[in-house]
Amino acid sequence: MTTSKPADPAEPANLSIASAPCDLSAVPGLLGDIASLGNNHDFSADREARLSLIEKARSLVSALETPREAMSRHIGAETASFFSIGLGVEAGLFRELATNNGAAKTAPELAKALGFDINALRPILRHLTAMKHIVQTNPDEYAPNNFSLFLSDPVLSAGYPLYRDVCIPPMLHLHKWLATKSYAAPSSIIDNPFTFGHQTSSSLFEFLASHPVHNTRFNHHMRSRRLGRPSWFHPSIYPVTERLLTGCGPLSSNQFVDVGGNLGKDLLEFSRAFPQLRGSLVLQDQAAMIGAAPGGELEAAGVETMVHDFFAPQPVEGARAYYLHSILHDWPDEQSAEIVGQIKKAMKPGYSRLLVNEHVIPSLGVSWEVSYLDIYMMILCGARERTEEDWVALLEGKCGLRVLKVWNPGNGVEGIIECEVPLAN
Ligand SMILES: C[S@@+](CC[C@H](N)C(=O)[O-])C[C@H]1O[C@@H](n2cnc3c(N)ncnc32)[C@H](O)[C@@H]1O
Repeated sequence: MTTSKPADPAEPANLSIASAPCDLSAVPGLLGDIASLGNNHDFSADREARLSLIEKARSLVSALETPREAMSRHIGAETASFFSIGLGVEAGLFRELATNNGAAKTAPELAKALGFDINALRPILRHLTAMKHIVQTNPDEYAPNNFSLFLSDPVLSAGYPLYRDVCIPPMLHLHKWLATKSYAAPSSIIDNPFTFGHQTSSSLFEFLASHPVHNTRFNHHMRSRRLGRPSWFHPSIYPVTERLLTGCGPLSSNQFVDVGGNLGKDLLEFSRAFPQLRGSLVLQDQAAMIGAAPGGELEAAGVETMVHDFFAPQPVEGARAYYLHSILHDWPDEQSAEIVGQIKKAMKPGYSRLLVNEHVIPSLGVSWEVSYLDIYMMILCGARERTEEDWVALLEGKCGLRVLKVWNPGNGVEGIIECEVPLAN
């Protein structure tokens, strides 16, 4: 197929727009908002206030920046920063900077420790400094800040090489893939920018399972990417006691099943918060994940582990709750309905609950923490993040469940879509 070529005029139509700040009229108001938000807040305790202040500060930068500056930052500074961080994580730059209690080190000392040509390392150190990821203490001398100390931990920073090697190749091919499909959204787990970019017929999860380095980084990233956000069972998100534990008598074994629960991080947290549920918790995932899960820790927390393919019949029947966290956003509607369908067959009508822990895209003002994932789900899996209407259409319309309530905290935090099989079914 052919794609229409945009006109390519010799001269830009409006040169002055490039060098004028984007929106000076917004600056006084934003400065006022920032001053009042900044007053009297304990930002270490008040997450909402901290995020509101960041949003205002970002808006201020966007208003003050010229389009030319914004463009250079996007295409040059941020891409160079992302790939420099990935290189630094893998080469051990941030680990090296953190040694000796973070004492400052010269560029030649760092180059020697890492085995780098100084002329390859210096530009990276300078740019990481310019982007405020490390600190320059003297000419040619550097030290870590809190962000680079975070990067010195290979578990916490695994997302950088993971995105570079697994997620960016499909992103590089998004425009080509869409053009070959007349700009239709991908809707297949095995025909999408991921399979095109990696020249593979495997889905993302098959690909991860056959590449242990990527798989380990994926598991690390699953763990670190939600740190600092409230857990799904925080009373401000989903009141577990009121919805699951009150009025249903003591729970025996096999009552709370985390389907596709990865290494069991959610269940370990849940078991700490609700010790009375120890012994009734089940972790299910593919063999590679269950094999990599911390068996001793899970056993001590009263979690039973089970290899289970969620496209196969659910072996635990009549549990109080089946929990799917960041599962359905990985799958197009057709496969999502199959996964839910297998759970539905095991659910006891009017008693069992399906708890879908996912983002719920608002109709206005989506957070970047959700909007970027929506694009990655599309290119990696032919899937998407969903709005409340999408969730109801999938879970009620396609799967025949009843959505009891959508618990949606918004602001980039996942919510719980709580469903049951209606008694009449
Ligand atoms: C995005 S991760 C989410 C993991 C976990 N629920 C969390 O929120 O941290 C998706 C999980 O689905 C699992 N998975 C993929 N295909 C599966 C299948 N066919 N059966 C069971 N689990 C599967 C993966 O192994 C992975 O652990």
